[in-house]
Amino acid sequence: MATLAPSPIHVRPFDAPLGADIEGVDLQRLDDAGFAAIKQAWLARKVLRLRGQDIDDDALADFSRRFGNLDRSPISTTGKLYQPTRPEVLVISNIIVDGVAIGGLGNGESIWHTDMSYNPVPPDASVLYGIEVPEGHGDTWFCDMEAALAALPEALRQRIATLSCLHDSTRNSAGELRAGFKESYAPEDQPGAVHPLIRTHPETGRKSLFLGRRRNAHVVGLPLAESQALLDELWSYAGRPEFTWVQKWRQGDVVIWDNRCVMHRRDEFDQGLRRLMHRTQIQGSKPF
Ligand code: OGA
Ligand code: MN
Repeated sequence: MATLAPSPIHVRPFDAPLGADIEGVDLQRLDDAGFAAIKQAWLARKVLRLRGQDIDDDALADFSRRFGNLDRSPISTTGKLYQPTRPEVLVISNIIVDGVAIGGLGNGESIWHTDMSYNPVPPDASVLYGIEVPEGHGDTWFCDMEAALAALPEALRQRIATLSCLHDSTRNSAGELRAGFKESYAPEDQPGAVHPLIRTHPETGRKSLFLGRRRNAHVVGLPLAESQALLDELWSYAGRPEFTWVQKWRQGDVVIWDNRCVMHRRDEFDQGLRRLMHRTQIQGSKPF
């Protein structure tokens, strides 16, 4: 009797500069050939979505680990892990049980950011799994930062070619202070990591604009006013509709993005709704 061939994998690019649906994959039974197809599509499209998955934290971590070692989840507002037994799995949720948030980011807007770019070695990728999602609410937007860089006028691109920027580590993308940080710092004492404003993708060789997050950012070596003006100008290219794709969540969606060339943000949603996602982050290398 013939053995059943695995179902073919389809890559369906979205009508946007980035993103694609991967069809024909069950993450509970992904073989090496299937993973190779996913990896290739991911490098080409920067964000992938796999719908209809039904996985636990082990399967989420196993799939994520095929891309590389996992990083620990970021520092929360309380300093506590949401899942003490699973430091590599971050809970993102607005759900409150007995007065305690079971996850991070709440229900507010999460502003444009690159995950954990305030670390000297930010993760290459994040994998976000929608366990309980209010459909039509809390959409997540992705911006192609290679396209943003390509849109810069040549003089501006040349001006930033050798400049670096401080990525603030004190607050999360929802604006909340992380445990262990003060409310404010003098600009020269702002905690975070310094990275080049133009970043080269280590696997594809392509360059992208690397901004991280706007709050408390500072271009190294520039006076404050000049730094602010330059960052405002650069940020005016990020998030332009023509560079973005929006993920409208359904339960069972797994979305993986390339943190080296994509930024993301999330719309706020009503606190009366319940939203629960689990995320992993894949260890990266020092940006150059
Ligand atoms: C994240 C994030 C957005 C969302 O998981 O890194 O920014 O949709 N989440 O909750
Ligand atoms: Mn994020």
